[in-house]
Amino acid sequence: MNNDALRIPVALKLHPYEVVIGGAGLKGIGKELRLAGIKKGIKVLVVSNADVAQPYGDLCLESLRESGYKPTLLVIEAGEDQKTQASIALIHDAAYTAQLERGSLMIALGGGVVGDMTGFAAATWLRGIAVAQLPTTLLAMVDAAIGGKTGVNHPGGKNLLGAFHQPRLVLIDPSTLNTLPEREFRAGMAEVIKYGVIGDRELFELLEGISELATPSELKTALLEKIIERSAAAKSKVVSSDEREAGLRAILNYGHTFGHVVETLCGYGTWLHGEAVAIGMVAIGELAVMRQSWSRDDANRQRALIAKAGLPTSWPKLDPEAVLKTLQGDKKVRDGKVRFVMPTGIGSVEIKNDVSTEEIQACISRLN
Ligand code: NAD
Ligand code: GLY
Repeated sequence: MNNDALRIPVALKLHPYEVVIGGAGLKGIGKELRLAGIKKGIKVLVVSNADVAQPYGDLCLESLRESGYKPTLLVIEAGEDQKTQASIALIHDAAYTAQLERGSLMIALGGGVVGDMTGFAAATWLRGIAVAQLPTTLLAMVDAAIGGKTGVNHPGGKNLLGAFHQPRLVLIDPSTLNTLPEREFRAGMAEVIKYGVIGDRELFELLEGISELATPSELKTALLEKIIERSAAAKSKVVSSDEREAGLRAILNYGHTFGHVVETLCGYGTWLHGEAVAIGMVAIGELAVMRQSWSRDDANRQRALIAKAGLPTSWPKLDPEAVLKTLQGDKKVRDGKVRFVMPTGIGSVEIKNDVSTEEIQACISRLN
């Protein structure tokens, strides 16, 4: 066991687990599972996609075998367009062929798409078997792998099918980011900036102090681990206090309401999720300034940080009517009111459902 690993508890009453960062990395997966109480001798289905399985699959399988597990690897196609029930069927078929039992384990080795799908397949195989998350994108490390939201898309919308299914372990090996395309890295940085605005002023200031944020190679390992640690800790804290999004967890949607509009109206694939969130954070920042709940200075700081991370900040040309309609169709609408996570400072937000249509229209016209 490598003692250098950072360990963040996700302190849930029923399913507590750890987010482990660094240490022996993927090579240590077998030992970390044993430490998490997963019995040796069990069958393990590792689900991945080619980009990730090729550099890291063997490493994981070897470590699992060394620790007494019986792993098989399933490589699936995994872009956002593959996040479908058909892919879940493929994972279930592999589970059937490998004869996974109630005591078996699935492991997601990949980005958020693999993580969400493997988690959902595990939640539904034999009414729920254990899953471990091995995120390999920055976005999955700081967000998707932690917190137990799993699922797939439906032709009618994103993530419409899903289940809460907490992992038994999240193991983050930051060195896997060395092979991640830089655009994907930057998209993950949007979620990191989000944690700074919603609750961690120190993280925000740490990011402001870094001269080059847009590429992992420019960031020193220790600094990258620190950024991942603070972000994962922020997510774990929110999830620990509100597992099922009864209240506080909604703050994680900061920037996502307008971001969802951008994703939907520009077409999925035009902007990566994190890029749309970046645009969404700038947009909600403008709305907050308009409502005088946030200072122009803070909004400018947020915009500058997002730009430094190599992320887009400009609202695309969109039909205002279509924007309003899309906002009304958002999953976060309650009783016909759009709920916005509104910044009140660097490190604090509030949830507001009293934003009028006129205010939204005025904001959109300022953005356009
Ligand atoms: P992704 O999973 O599509 O991965 C992005 C790309 O990077 C893919 O092409 C993948 O093959 C490649 N890749 C991944 N790791 C790599 C590596 N180390 N080296 C080389 N290539 C690598 O994208 P993502 O941004 O990780 O995840 C997006 C998904 O996550 C969305 O479907 C979103 O809905 C979901 N999500 C879920 C939650 C949650 O709480 N469950 C939170 C946020 C996002
Ligand atoms: N990504 C939002 C959440 O996990 O709640």
